[in-house]
Amino acid sequence: PAYQIGYFVGSLASGSINRTLSKALIKLAPKDLEFNEIPIKDLPLYSSDYDADFPAEGRALKEAVEAADGILFISPEYNRSIPGALKNAIDWGSRPWGTNSFARKPTGIIGASPGGIGTAVMQSNMRSVLSFLDAPQLNTPEAYISFKPEAYGDDGEVKDESTQKFLRHYMDEYCAFVQRVLDANAAGHI
Ligand code: FNR
Repeated sequence: PAYQIGYFVGSLASGSINRTLSKALIKLAPKDLEFNEIPIKDLPLYSSDYDADFPAEGRALKEAVEAADGILFISPEYNRSIPGALKNAIDWGSRPWGTNSFARKPTGIIGASPGGIGTAVMQSNMRSVLSFLDAPQLNTPEAYISFKPEAYGDDGEVKDESTQKFLRHYMDEYCAFVQRVLDANAAGHI
């Protein structure tokens, strides 16, 4: 079956290396996965004042998360944590209280940085947030991408063979994980 994957790119920058990574992942993913980006840049900063009357952007985000079979986060690390724009989007999806859109959604977390840490600390922070939101996460493989610009062509083509193999493996495992969680959800096992 085809699964609908909603993906978040945690960077608003033009020329974002994480956007390049997202294109590469989509290209290398199993054909069973269909991808829709969930935009974050036009969301107001969340406040509980909005709970009584969610704006269109907030409703659209919640609907997109709820419609997706799985969620994939592709994000930079900012100051050892989750970029504010992405954390804001997650906060929107988690509210109003009692309507957390992320509950039981299978999620994957991946990110690239120019340095060697490869967004590991952001990912660790993200796991805390997603655990609190009751979103199951692909635990292994982990993917801390130290971005090498020469490995990527235009439009997400991956020129470096070992990078390509690793990213394809990540997406294969992510797809299998989404299927396992959906099966378990359907069977009422979790
Ligand atoms: C960074 N950068 C960064 N890198 C990192 O590995 N760990 C970090 O904690 C940070 N902190 C950080 C804070 C802020 C505000 C910025 C703007 C940048 C560098 C970051 O990895 C680099 O700019 C990436 O290119 C950002 O990803 P995108 O936007 O290119 O996808």
